[in-house]
Formats: sequence, structure tokens, C-alpha cells
Amino acid sequence: MGKIVINGGRSLNGTVRIAGSKNASVAVIPAALLADGASVIENLPDITDVTTLAEIISELGADVTYGCDGRMVIDPRRFDCYQAPYELVKRLRASYYLLGVLLAKFGRAEVALPGGCNIGLRPVDQHLKGFRALGADASLEHGIVKVRASRLIGAPIYLDVVSVGATINIMLAAVFAQGVTLIENAAKEPHVVGLANFLNSMGANVQGAGTDVIRIKGVKSLHGSDHSVVPDEIEAATFMMAAVATGGDVTVTNIIPKHVDPVTAKLRESGAEVEENGDYLRVKGPERPRAVNVKTLPYPGFPTDCQQPFVALMTRADGISVVQETIYDNRFGYANELIRMGANIKVDGRTAIVEGVSRLFGAPVRASDLRAGAAMIIAGLAAEGRTEIYGIEHILRGYERVVEKYGSLGADIALENER
Ligand code: EPZ
Repeated sequence: MGKIVINGGRSLNGTVRIAGSKNASVAVIPAALLADGASVIENLPDITDVTTLAEIISELGADVTYGCDGRMVIDPRRFDCYQAPYELVKRLRASYYLLGVLLAKFGRAEVALPGGCNIGLRPVDQHLKGFRALGADASLEHGIVKVRASRLIGAPIYLDVVSVGATINIMLAAVFAQGVTLIENAAKEPHVVGLANFLNSMGANVQGAGTDVIRIKGVKSLHGSDHSVVPDEIEAATFMMAAVATGGDVTVTNIIPKHVDPVTAKLRESGAEVEENGDYLRVKGPERPRAVNVKTLPYPGFPTDCQQPFVALMTRADGISVVQETIYDNRFGYANELIRMGANIKVDGRTAIVEGVSRLFGAPVRASDLRAGAAMIIAGLAAEGRTEIYGIEHILRGYERVVEKYGSLGADIALENER
């Protein structure tokens, strides 16, 4: 698969365009299968999660035209399979959105449970709670989630935990349900709102997305529609943190500044200057960032997907920062790789204590998951000497054209053969 090689110590300068959101794309693509005609989805990021999902839905019978140019046409008229086997879904965790889509479309779904992840347990009990509330039987047999309903009837559902996946999956399952479904304690992430906007453009009746109560009134059918994926707030935040970590001056464009507010606030606390304007942000890093404490929370709190790159930024801060991870139970595994680069991090359960050091040193490191990969990139950019990042398949899943984009900002970064 190769490795990413960075010769660090150079500040990032220039402008970079932010891609469409990975987490929005993996919800909108399956949602297009609910329509009785073709949809056009624009602004998709050039990442493997998108190409993988396109392959999965086309193997299930949808006609998909996608040239990795951000534009995908999905025609679901030949899509007629309610089963998604393990060999398909194991390639992408977010395949579990097919449960809500297949249940809504066919009244039944059999989707293999996605694989685990390197950031802790990823249960789907709240997804099943929602499907059962709508009148479906749901069971787990030999690693396959089986849901079935003769009729789906709208119902109130209170999520025990704020879950992006459960919020989205229940929204998808409820679009044709008879009557009104209420999702309470719903997730409010930008990609939840993005999906609701797409569904409504297809003729659905989804109100309240972006608040903690979402109301879905079932409709008879959905027609195809055109949709542009919301910008990826996590990619934007990652570039912003990289700018601060290298004392650079970077402008990120094609974003919705509000979506990165919690990260902007923390970067300002660390001494960065952040100028907001319309659809771009300009970030100027200080000579050395100040240590800042962070606690991850559901949106609009500090995103858990920014926790790993933020810790990488804090490894060279002036002072001690306390980082609490409240969403996942094991999302500090990457810290050992940063320690090998000279960082001083102590992890105790869901809390990391980061004592800033003045210098990091390049080293061979391995990305264990997508956002850990972002942490390795930021640490490599800030470190002195050569860093080799292995496990880049994780990074390419969710960050488009990383070498090209960081290189365009002045980073000395390249993709090399693994040996
Ligand atoms: C989505 O995962 C994102 N993935 C994750 O991004 C992100 O970290 C997460 O939301 C939180 O923002 C996609 O959107 C494809 P959750 P999801 O359901 O939906 C618990 C990345 O790097 N929970 O909001 O799986 C769960 O264990 C990825 O882009 C239950 O207990 O996250 C976790 O502790 C990583 N029961 C918490 O809720 C359930 O049924 C939040 O999970 C579901 C979740």
C-alpha cells in the first residue's frame, strides 16, 4: 500500500479547498436508493470510503456512474436486493445505513454487522431500538442483523446516547413509515442536517434536523434529486490544526465556518489567529502554541474526530493540556506512536495528559485508524527530520489527496513504496 514520508519542520502556507464531508457522503449515497428515480450527488470527496460504497450499492443492483470527480449518478430502479453480505459490508463500517434503507424500501433487511474499529466498541443497539419502535422485528443471527416489518408505523424514539449513526439510520427507516416518527436526543452533526436536506429535496418530510428532536412524517414515495454534499468540517479542522502546529498561515476555503466553531475557539485559546469570512477561514499559528484543555462532546461540542490531531498539536505546546474523550472508550491508542517521536503523553482511560515538549523527532509510525493517521501527519509536519507513516489505507479512506493537498501548502511530503 505504500507509506507517506514527511520531512518536517516547514511551516504550511497557502490556500486549500475543503472537500465534501466523508460522514455526509456515506449517508447520502445509500439514501439515494430510496427514490423511484435517479439522483445526482455533487461535491463528493475523492476517498476510498466513497468508491467502496459506490461498489457496494452497484453490486446490490443500483446503476452507479462515478468518475471520482465528485459527481455520482445513482439510479435505484434495478436495485432489488435486501441482503448485504459480509464480504461486501466488511469493507465499510457505514454500510450499516443499508439497514434503514432496505427496511424502508423492502420491509426487510439482512446486513452483516460491520467490523470493529480501533477506537473502541461500536454497538448498534440504538439503531435496533429505533427499528423495533417502528414495528420491525430485529435480531442478530451469525453476525448478520436481520430486520423485518410487514408495516412500519411512526413512533417516538428516545436515544439513550446521542448517536449519529442511530439518528441517521432511524431517519432513513422512517421516511415511508405511516404517521409521525420523533427521534429525541438526536445527533445534531452537520451531516445529519445534510441528509435531512437531501431527503426533503426528494420529497420526504423531515423537520428539526440540527436540533435534538427530529420529526419525520412518512410519505408514499421519494423522487430522485440533485444534492451537493456539505463540506467536511473534520478535514477543514485538520488543516487548521496543521497550520497551528507548524506556525503557518493557511486559508481553508469551501467551508461553513460555523461547523468548525469549537475547533476555532480552541485554536484561538492556543494563541492562533483565526479570521472568519463567508466560506473561508484564515489560520495563523503562533511560534509555539499554548497548552489548551479539551473535552470531546457531540456536536456542537469539540468533535471526537478532532481529538487525535489535536493531541498531536498539543505535543509541542507550551504547558500541560488535559484531553478528555467522552464519546469512545479507547481512542488514545495512537499516543504510543507520538511518544516514539518524543512526545510526553500519559493516558489514563478516557483522559490524556499531554506535557508539551519543545521538539519532536521524525520516526517510522503506524496509523491505526483514520484520525490517528491525521495525528501522525500533523506530528510529522511539526517534527524535525523524516517521518514514515504506515497504515495509510486508513488515511486514504477519509482524507482526499492528502499528499497533493499538504504538498500544495509547502509540506515536504510524498507517497513512497513500503519497502
Ligand atoms: C459517526 O460514527 C462517525 N462515522 C464517526 O466518525 C464519529 O466519530 C462519530 O459519529 C461521532 O461523531 C460516520 O459518520 C460514518 P455514534 P457513529 O453512533 O455513528 C455509542 C471518523 O473518523 N453508541 O455517534 O458510529 C458509541 O459506542 C468516524 O470519521 C451506542 O452505544 O458514532 C459511541 O460511544 C470515527 N449504541 C457513541 O454512541 C449505538 O447503537 C457515539 O457513537 C450507537 C452508538
